[in-house]
Amino acid sequence: MSKKSTDAAGSTDLPLPHADRPVASAPGHWVLARAGKRVLRPGGAALSAAMLSHAGLAGADVVELAPGLGRTAAEIIKDHPASYTAIDRDPDAARRVAAVVGDLGTVRQGEAADTGLDEASADVVVGEAMLTMQGDKGKAAIVAEAARVLRPGGRYAIHELGVTPDDIDEDYYTQLRRDLARSIHVNARPMTAAAWKELMEDAGLVVDWVDTAPMALLKVGRNIRDEGLGGFLRIARNVAADKALRRRVQEMAATFKRYEKDMVGFALVAHKPES
Ligand SMILES: C[S@@+](CC[C@H](N)C(=O)[O-])C[C@H]1O[C@@H](n2cnc3c(N)ncnc32)[C@H](O)[C@@H]1O
Repeated sequence: MSKKSTDAAGSTDLPLPHADRPVASAPGHWVLARAGKRVLRPGGAALSAAMLSHAGLAGADVVELAPGLGRTAAEIIKDHPASYTAIDRDPDAARRVAAVVGDLGTVRQGEAADTGLDEASADVVVGEAMLTMQGDKGKAAIVAEAARVLRPGGRYAIHELGVTPDDIDEDYYTQLRRDLARSIHVNARPMTAAAWKELMEDAGLVVDWVDTAPMALLKVGRNIRDEGLGGFLRIARNVAADKALRRRVQEMAATFKRYEKDMVGFALVAHKPES
């Protein structure tokens, strides 16, 4: 899948994923994309940048799992990797990312747990806001695939939704998960920092770096920083003009607000040991 690059933010004439689904029932991230949002991960672009700076991208063979609309793809390409390969399960997302990376990368539609890539063929695997939406088995299968694809010494960088503290009350956590899933229409299963680290260690990876940022996906300040003032104003106009979109965004914002102190953007970089 190779198309001429359009712009680094991934805004092309190509259809958005789930564009034909009613706003009331579409997955939250694609609803936000419809409103104009391009940074679809909980800790925002700054946490992604910090994570990428610890991943060692220059001159590396990089694989991105679930690139979405290609915003991180554009950042990775800027760091001059030796190669860029991406796999997203959504065909429209894959087409849009192909347009973002142009001749500088390869993008395929596929499953992150079964990339079809050769064993030990990558120096860096990146995945953001995609493990959170898998169950326990799905998470483990994707992390095992990332570990398989990495060369010894290679790095796996993730940016996902965290819950805090590590000893969060089990009933409260269950309620948070249910409310979140109901609001974003994705069966999201965020985890504590300890559980994210354990997921890596269970696959034989060694965690080297961890950071967090507030879960501020729908906050004004974060959106001005991540989408630019023009992008923020476009989102605000789109939301104001469409009643169904407004209702959905308001519902999600209310849930995020309710659990503001319990949720964080969580990023880590782990490496595959030499033997
Ligand atoms: C919330 S979006 C995040 C997109 C992008 N990584 C970002 O942070 O802006 C989730 C993305 O994960 C993709 N995805 C979810 N599960 C996947 C899987 N098992 N294999 C491949 N892609 C997956 C979806 O199609 C979507 O593009």
